[in-house]
Amino acid sequence: MYNLAVFGNPIEHSLSPAIHAQFAQQTATQVNYTKILAPIGNFSQEAQRFVASGGDGFNITVPFKIDAFELATELTLNAKMAGAVNTIKVQEDRLIGENTDGLGLVNDLIQNLGLSLKNKKILILGAGGATQGIVLPLLQQQPSRVMIANRTASKAEKLADDFSKYGSTCGFGLDKIKSDPIDIIINATSASLDGKMPDIANGCAHGAICYDLMYGQQTPFMTWAKENNASIIADGLGMLVEQAASSFEFWTEKKPDTQAVIKNLRR
Ligand code: ATR
Repeated sequence: MYNLAVFGNPIEHSLSPAIHAQFAQQTATQVNYTKILAPIGNFSQEAQRFVASGGDGFNITVPFKIDAFELATELTLNAKMAGAVNTIKVQEDRLIGENTDGLGLVNDLIQNLGLSLKNKKILILGAGGATQGIVLPLLQQQPSRVMIANRTASKAEKLADDFSKYGSTCGFGLDKIKSDPIDIIINATSASLDGKMPDIANGCAHGAICYDLMYGQQTPFMTWAKENNASIIADGLGMLVEQAASSFEFWTEKKPDTQAVIKNLRR
């Protein structure tokens, strides 16, 4: 039996228990996966209590991914570069921190949407935590370039610089986005949460694959992509399921069937 959990605040609406229950059933694995609401400022005590009670691993969601990064006693390269941890595996007294968000995005793009990222030009909107979590796995697919555009240009420039040893990157302000078509545009800003679309040149969407990391509703970015003739428009539900699958595999070494779960959640 694997004793697993997800920590967050809020946590009530998390889909993770339902997703992991389906993975467990598919792979005939005994799993007890619970939601734990950690008080703000108290994540590490709650997590340590869970570990002491026999926890084998846990997910970490908003707002504790940086606290989890600090709690981990070891970090994968992914987690180190992301500066955040969304998955911890307990191995005796070791807490191994991983970040499966970027892997989840890449697996959704490649396996579920059937795309190849090799030699593609990728534009990421935003330069916050969400962007930092996805750049390395994207670069590992050998795109021709990952461009990071942000309202505050200096943050995009810094991230581009931090990741430059892993591939071709550049960073600039949103106002510097040209109207030339781009292969893939990923919205990693939090603007959708406020019902807003970053103010950028429309031409870059023509024929592009437009992907919003958010899920659960048609976002302003998805509407913008449609109005500007994007070729494929996707929300982040596939990424949510794929990041969960990568976590499940990290704990159990079993690979679940994500497409069946995505289909169930879209019903
Ligand atoms: P997250 O962890 O979701 O990435 P974050 O680290 O607070 O959250 O980053 C939010 C990102 O969304 C930032 O890149 C932010 O731009 P700034 O760095 O200039 O603040 C971007 N963002 C938020 N609202 C936006 C808006 N209305 N238009 C454009 N970018 C926006």
